[in-house]
Amino acid sequence: MDVAEVLLAVPREDFLPADQRALAGEDRPLPIGHGQTSSQPRTVAAMLALLDVHRGHRVLDVGAGSGWTTALLAELVGPTGSVLGIELSPALARWGAANVAARKRSWAAVREAAPGVLGAPDEGPYDRVLVSAEARRLPESLVDQLGPAGILVIPVGGLMTRVERSSDGSVRTTEHGAYRFVPLL
Ligand SMILES: C[S@@+](CC[C@H](N)C(=O)[O-])C[C@H]1O[C@@H](n2cnc3c(N)ncnc32)[C@H](O)[C@@H]1O
Repeated sequence: MDVAEVLLAVPREDFLPADQRALAGEDRPLPIGHGQTSSQPRTVAAMLALLDVHRGHRVLDVGAGSGWTTALLAELVGPTGSVLGIELSPALARWGAANVAARKRSWAAVREAAPGVLGAPDEGPYDRVLVSAEARRLPESLVDQLGPAGILVIPVGGLMTRVERSSDGSVRTTEHGAYRFVPLL
């Protein structure tokens, strides 16, 4: 499945609070509680396209929130891959984990961030890292979680940023337009 197909296959409304579900088709961020949002679908599509996910990839989804992006990534990697969603808010992590579990994709899960830890370095490296919250500066600790030929997509200082690690370990950073996000804490 490609990005357009997974966006059709994983209904956004299943990852929204009941009072927002009727708005799922609107191309704008929607509140998911706890001061957080479900990202604008067009932005999610652009980030997933930049991430270039393949079947079998190991993916880290930082800022998993409702679990929607984790569920989308699960369809892209398929059962030979894996997706680990990490969420800072304990309440959102519980809800996001339940939303992802309901889709019965055993290779995808959401859990709460470990205190003081960005991402999940102990379980890396990852082929792909998606971050759905905005950093002020590129977090080196997330770049370090990329394996060879790994790609990180993260909003940094208002600009969508793609970091690609080549197989010799060197890193290439490119920018892909202006976006607004909740802060990465
Ligand atoms: C735009 S929202 C949720 C988007 C989410 N991918 C979805 O599909 O619903 C970004 C999330 O990042 C979380 N967040 C912020 N800083 C974080 C951190 N250091 N580690 C993990 N999650 C973080 C917020 O709590 C928030 O739920």
